[in-house]
Amino acid sequence: LEEIVGSALNRLEKNLGDRPVTICLPDDLPLLWIDAVLLEQVLANLIENVIKYTPPNSPMDISAERLAASITVTVSDYGQGIPKGMEEKIFAKFYRLESDSLQSGVGLGLTLCRAIIEAHGGIIYARQQSPGAAFVIELPAHQQPPLNWHEALEA
Ligand SMILES: Nc1ncnc2c1ncn2[C@@H]1O[C@H](COP(=O)(O)OP(=O)(O)OP(=O)(O)O)[C@@H](O)[C@H]1O
Ligand SMILES: [Mg+2]
Repeated sequence: LEEIVGSALNRLEKNLGDRPVTICLPDDLPLLWIDAVLLEQVLANLIENVIKYTPPNSPMDISAERLAASITVTVSDYGQGIPKGMEEKIFAKFYRLESDSLQSGVGLGLTLCRAIIEAHGGIIYARQQSPGAAFVIELPAHQQPPLNWHEALEA
C-alpha cells in the first residue's frame, strides 16, 4: 500500500503544489491482494478530486487502518465537503455537483473508483467531516501468502 500511495502522489506531484499532505500508514499493514495499477488509479482519482475541489493550500490526509477482516484506506480533505444527502449520488455515472461546474470533469472518476474497488470485493463511500470530505475504501483482508512462496514453487 505504501508503494501505491507513493506512486499515486508522484503522478500528481505537480498539481499538489504546496498542499500539506499527511500520510499515516501503520507499520504492520499486510501485503494487499490487489491489482496495484488499478488501486493506484483509484487513489489518483481521489487525490485529483481533492486538488480540484478544495482550495490550493488546503491540506489532505491519507491514512490506513487494519481491522480484523478488512483494510481501510481513507483520503480526506478540509474543503467544502459533500452536501448532506449527496454522498451516494456523486458515485453515479456523469454526476457532478452544480457548485463544481467551474472545474473541468466528466463525473466518471468516482464511478470508476467504485467499479474497481467492488471488483476487489471491497466498498468505497464518502463521508462528510467537519470540515471536509472523506473517501473511505474498505478492502477485504486476505490471508498473507507465505514469504518463501517462490521456494515452495521451485520444490
Ligand atoms: N473531495 C471532494 N470535495 C468536494 N466535492 C467532491 C470531492 N470529490 C468529488 N466531489 C464531487 O463529486 C463529483 C463527482 O466526482 P467524480 O470524480 O466522479 O467526477 P469529476 O471530478 O467531476 O470528473 P472526472 O470524471 O474528471 O473525475 C464532482 O464533480 C464533485 O462535485
Ligand atoms: Mg474526479
